[in-house]
Amino acid sequence: MMKKFVLPDIYFGGDYTPEHFPKQVMEEDMRLMKKAGVNIATINVFSWGQLQPNEDTWCFEWLDEIMDTLAKNGVYADMGTATASTPAWIAKKYPEILPYDKNGIRFNHGSRQTFNPNSPKYKELSQKLVRKIAERYKDHPALCMWHVNNELSHQVNYDYSEITAEKFRNWCKEKYGTCENLNKTWGLDFWGNNIYEWDELVPPMKTAHQVSTSLLLDWKRFTSECYMDVARNEIEILREVTPNVPITTNFLYEFKRLDYFVWAEIIDFISVSSFPDPKTNNHPGEAALSHDMMRGLKDQPFVLLEQAPSQVNWRLANVNKKPGVMRLWSHQGMAHGSDSFLFFQWRASVHGSEKFHSAIVPHIGENSRVFREMTEFGNELPNLKEIVGSDVQADVAIVLDYNNWWTVEFTPGPTALLKYLENIQAYHYPLYEQNITVDIVPYDRDLSKYKVVIAPVLYMLKPGFKESIEKFVSEGGTFITTFFSGVVDEHDKVFDGGYPGPLSDLLGLKVEEFEAMKPYIKNSLVMNGKLANVSGEFESSLWCDILQLGTAQSLAEYGKDFFKGTAALTVNDFGKGKAYYVATLPDNDFMRKFLKQVCAEQGVKPVLEAPERVEAVVRCDGDNDYLFVMNHNYEPVEVTLPGGEYFDLLTQTKMRGTIKLDAVQSVILKQS
Ligand code: GLA
Repeated sequence: MMKKFVLPDIYFGGDYTPEHFPKQVMEEDMRLMKKAGVNIATINVFSWGQLQPNEDTWCFEWLDEIMDTLAKNGVYADMGTATASTPAWIAKKYPEILPYDKNGIRFNHGSRQTFNPNSPKYKELSQKLVRKIAERYKDHPALCMWHVNNELSHQVNYDYSEITAEKFRNWCKEKYGTCENLNKTWGLDFWGNNIYEWDELVPPMKTAHQVSTSLLLDWKRFTSECYMDVARNEIEILREVTPNVPITTNFLYEFKRLDYFVWAEIIDFISVSSFPDPKTNNHPGEAALSHDMMRGLKDQPFVLLEQAPSQVNWRLANVNKKPGVMRLWSHQGMAHGSDSFLFFQWRASVHGSEKFHSAIVPHIGENSRVFREMTEFGNELPNLKEIVGSDVQADVAIVLDYNNWWTVEFTPGPTALLKYLENIQAYHYPLYEQNITVDIVPYDRDLSKYKVVIAPVLYMLKPGFKESIEKFVSEGGTFITTFFSGVVDEHDKVFDGGYPGPLSDLLGLKVEEFEAMKPYIKNSLVMNGKLANVSGEFESSLWCDILQLGTAQSLAEYGKDFFKGTAALTVNDFGKGKAYYVATLPDNDFMRKFLKQVCAEQGVKPVLEAPERVEAVVRCDGDNDYLFVMNHNYEPVEVTLPGGEYFDLLTQTKMRGTIKLDAVQSVILKQS
């Protein structure tokens, strides 16, 4: 169990760059922050260029003034380490810090994050900077948390410089010992790609055709570790100088490049930049899944470190958050475990590429819808403070694995249409839509507290999972997995004897063949009466496994193609529990009914029976339950609350029975 970190308060604020504005604006900002109830500002994220104009000169006075002003006005600093953007002089003097793209072409200075994560010079200079900042502000009353770098690896996903290539060779040498072992583990006999000397090993740069998928997998693991080293290089200093100041770095919403489950261990609390598209047909489960992922990383509350007050500037067309949506989505974040709300950005920029990104204070100033909504939202937050640190409880877990995500999507064939996250969504959304709360867990988490565990498309089966899932099922749990599971080991090598490899006994079947379907082709599942409460025929797409059943029993058969009449959905009794295999991708209608039934068999009930697009989640602190009910519809709905009386924390009134929720309204109800 990881040590639980609990924030002392609900923080509310945003990215703050007063240094980009005339001096008098800061005074105005303080007035507006007070008005809006802001108590935190993220500062100094990209300001290395202002702090150190050349190698021998440091200019901290402007930052001192910001810190002092914040402290004087009761606003805390989420203090950036300023390493996310390197100054121009570094690129000029030490061009080795610049990264290279896949074609071997060097990036030029001029944007942000243009550094090679493996450059020793970057390490030296950034560590010097971080030490200076930490030493200078270690006792400053405004300092409340460290914000390491920013969204690491977002801009330069992979670096292909010779410095990195050499580090990769050493990483592989360390892991595999000899070229012979590497050739064997990666299967480099294929296309005669064997190496005999370590300097023959090349990162996956531009070449004539596909490269080894095992190499790609390790390259991605290596890069995730390299960026983790960048964070660690800073964290090491911050922990030494300010052992009591918590450290975070902002993760990204639905971002697959870094293995965040591993990363979670090096920071004190998880924080995330969350920017779902506010288009009207947005599925509210999209953000719910992202929040569940973030909570799952440490199995603890997290922080929404960046949301947009309204629109962003980087989509094809940037839709506004309609009135009430910012508040609704923030409450949704809290329902799923976020204990604070920070926004990008406090005041709209007047220069550069983010001028038209929304801000708490838009170009027109305080007399604006966005500022008014932010102010109302900020001023009701103190009523929610008692929720901080409470837990979200779930009986259902979905297994997500980053290595699996990478391999499923870079493996050529069986279908480029297979997207891992969409298959996670295919199970998460129907549960979400029925208000059944889900935890997202790594493959090696203790599963004993769950009643249902789902592992969609678990192509890569890592050591230990077979044993833990067999134990879980034999003790009475329900396991659901799908097509393209149990196919390869942790090196991306196919298991002997076919799929689902080591899961064959648990599932009681083998996969004889699979077929990927063109987008316009559908098959169907014809229920055969053996699964209670689910009858009829349901559409399926993307993929069909053709199965050989051992001890498993068919619950539905395919309705079409040469394998019509063979099993498309099976169940196998194993010890006291059951293991289901879903051999195709059924439609949402089926999924809702199937998952409802499987959950009901395990006694897992929805938090609340509610109209469509009305979400309900409970957080619990041991003594009190906090029921969040959120109407994602643009029209009013009625909801009947179960049980007795509740206290609405937002309006500070009592309620019971059937309540009306206006369009995009939420209530947060306490029951002791
Ligand atoms: C990210 C970055 C911010 C800003 C926003 C814009 O979250 O961290 O600096 O660029 O995106 O949406």
